[in-house]
Amino acid sequence: MESLIERAARDLLKSNHAIALTGAGMSPESGIRDFRGPNGIWTKDPEAEKRAYQTYHNFLRNPKEYWEGVLSGRSSLGNIQDAKPNPGHHALAELETIGILKAVLTQNIDALHEKAGNKRVLEYHGSVLKLRCPACGTRFKRNDYDLQGLMSAGQLPPRCNKCNSPIKGDVVHFNEPIPSDVAHESLEEAWKCDLMLICGTSAVVYPFAQLPRIARQRQVEQERKTESGLHFVKNESATTIIEVNAEPTPLTAEGISDYLIQGRTAEILPKIVETVKELSK
Ligand code: APR
Ligand code: ZN
Repeated sequence: MESLIERAARDLLKSNHAIALTGAGMSPESGIRDFRGPNGIWTKDPEAEKRAYQTYHNFLRNPKEYWEGVLSGRSSLGNIQDAKPNPGHHALAELETIGILKAVLTQNIDALHEKAGNKRVLEYHGSVLKLRCPACGTRFKRNDYDLQGLMSAGQLPPRCNKCNSPIKGDVVHFNEPIPSDVAHESLEEAWKCDLMLICGTSAVVYPFAQLPRIARQRQVEQERKTESGLHFVKNESATTIIEVNAEPTPLTAEGISDYLIQGRTAEILPKIVETVKELSK
């Protein structure tokens, strides 16, 4: 394990544009369960996952009812708004401060990367701290609206102050399109990165899970096109894809990642950053 940690630190130091892709496996040490691990929310309650597949449809069908459900029900994720970043989040923030990490693309809605200090965070599945207008894409801070007050006054759903359409939570539900701004920027990052550090995701939910495959594929294509006149295919990939995860994933099995450092993100990521600092002395 130690040699893989040192290998990751050396790969990060060699990189020009490293990005991190993160999932729910970043947050258990912050008290937020993952979805598909042994104690995951969907693992323990498959009915909750089935209901989650209906949420976006419910919003489109009846935004008022959607909001009554949101405001009266308990989130299956528990109270994530008060959660604190853990050493794994702080390690990725330090990697950005050192100048190595250029972006974090996260599936997590808990805003823990920003709380840890990362500046460039693409929230692929949105954030619990925000609201969004699906019609015009405008985002709002959650407390820009007195949602409970609107419910007691019988004035749900909250409406966009730009286009007056009903707004929803910023969190992207199953079957809901990824907001185009985040989708576009994430694709750009996957095209141009030369190192992808994938932390705490089962890599089974699309389109996010497509990003490592694009990074792998695209970089090899660029090699082929940049040789003016000479057309050759380089076998080795120009992108280093590293997984840090409690268990192997389809990315491991399909050889999309170069190597898996198996274990807990909150332990492994700080060790990688410590080694980066050691090697930079
Ligand atoms: N350290 C490292 N890996 C961990 C840890 C940990 N402390 N805890 C869990 N894991 C691993 C699990 O073994 C699993 O492989 O992290 C992965 C988490 O996978 P999921 O629970 O599927 O979470 P994620 O990949 O983020 O899910 C993607 O699915 O339900 C939707 O919108 C939701 O964004 C979420 C998306
Ligand atoms: Zn709007």
